[in-house]
Amino acid sequence: MSDESPLIRSLRAAVAAAPEDVPLRLHFAELLLAEGRGDEAVTEAAVALQHAPGDDAARALMVRAMGLPMAPEAPAAPQDAPAETTAPTFDWDAAEQEVGDVVGPRFVTGDVEQPLTADGSGDPGDASAWDVDVPGSVRLADVGGMQEVKDRLEAAFLAPMRNPELRKLYGKSLRGGLLLYGPPGCGKTFIARAVAGELGASFMSVSLSDVLDMYIGTSEKNVHDLFETARAQAPCVVFLDELDALGAKRSRTHHGGLRNVVNQLLTELDGIDGAENEGVFVLAATNVPWDVDLALRRPGRLDRTLLVLPPDAPAREAILHYHLRERPIESVDLGKLVKATEDFSGADLAHVCETAAESALLDSARTGTVRMIGMKDLLGAAKQIRPSSESWFASARNVAMFANDGGMYDDLVAYLKKKRKL
Ligand SMILES: Nc1ncnc2c1ncn2[C@@H]1O[C@H](COP(=O)(O)OP(=O)(O)O)[C@@H](O)[C@H]1O
Ligand SMILES: [Mg+2]
Repeated sequence: MSDESPLIRSLRAAVAAAPEDVPLRLHFAELLLAEGRGDEAVTEAAVALQHAPGDDAARALMVRAMGLPMAPEAPAAPQDAPAETTAPTFDWDAAEQEVGDVVGPRFVTGDVEQPLTADGSGDPGDASAWDVDVPGSVRLADVGGMQEVKDRLEAAFLAPMRNPELRKLYGKSLRGGLLLYGPPGCGKTFIARAVAGELGASFMSVSLSDVLDMYIGTSEKNVHDLFETARAQAPCVVFLDELDALGAKRSRTHHGGLRNVVNQLLTELDGIDGAENEGVFVLAATNVPWDVDLALRRPGRLDRTLLVLPPDAPAREAILHYHLRERPIESVDLGKLVKATEDFSGADLAHVCETAAESALLDSARTGTVRMIGMKDLLGAAKQIRPSSESWFASARNVAMFANDGGMYDDLVAYLKKKRKL
């Protein structure tokens, strides 16, 4: 706006520079409201609520802003005036009452334990950890539940990394690699990042699409350089995500260059003589292990597998907690929600929270009254969504029945039997 007051203009800049400063943003929203810019005030209050879901001042302001979309011109409020002086036509008592209804406990006590986090705060890492590959930002303690998976990772990587004596003692048996497999969206990449968080610089992650984007010929060199760096840095874990992209059955690779990359990877995994790869551990992940070249899975290479199943109850609780952490929720019984989302993947759970937020938001917009996200929204959303792992298990079932060569998929068979799917 060209006729915007200098005060509003500079506050807008201040808010942009400190987006998480809730009092500042609320102050800005108050000013907007006082100038009759109710819609903008609603937007600012909504952002403030995202950062501080339980904040009473933010909620009160939201209610007032929604009730006063076209407030009459009022003088700009002095810096820390009580809210009631800024919007003279506003019925403060009525708003208080309305807010009183809206404010409720965020969570009701369920029968599931609070999620685990490294610092015990219940918030599994900062948001950036999920999008950006920042080693050190996710720790194993941020991975909810999945105790068996954690134990295996501890034995396969963390203990030998920490303990050179143990490496010597077990020698060769600790060499080689571990292939994480399971339905999509169930935490393979996330878990690998947590291992990276535990190991810091001695974890090298490579996006295979990056390797393959290179010109033919350089991709082999990239693979070689990667392993050379890992050897120089040993003990070190090399993580190959979406291994199927690279290790696709050689017969299926229409792209001639890819075969060379696979061959190069085989060479690197074997090392020129066995000793060369001392202290180099390989972790890989795929949704489609049956598409991975069998040569990559021979002894000494990716010879161990670890099934990563849909999140168990504590894992689902951690995931739900994470996705609800910045949303305006009220009386959410996580234990109940956890029970209603069996077999849901991490991605499905995110979708449930998104859908629930959407329905509460639509309701609020329709009625002009802010409504928090409640159990009804969440359970309703859960009912609408079918676990996305179903189709994965349908393919996995065939593999377990007809292609379990050498007991490669014994874990899967055991799980399917337990679930009476086999
Ligand atoms: N055990 C868990 N604890 C906390 N969050 C999890 C857990 N498992 C999965 N998630 C969440 O689910 C999302 C999807 O998992 P991801 O690792 O991308 O799946 P995959 O690599 O198996 O396809 C992750 O970003 C993470 O936020
Ligand atoms: Mg992944």
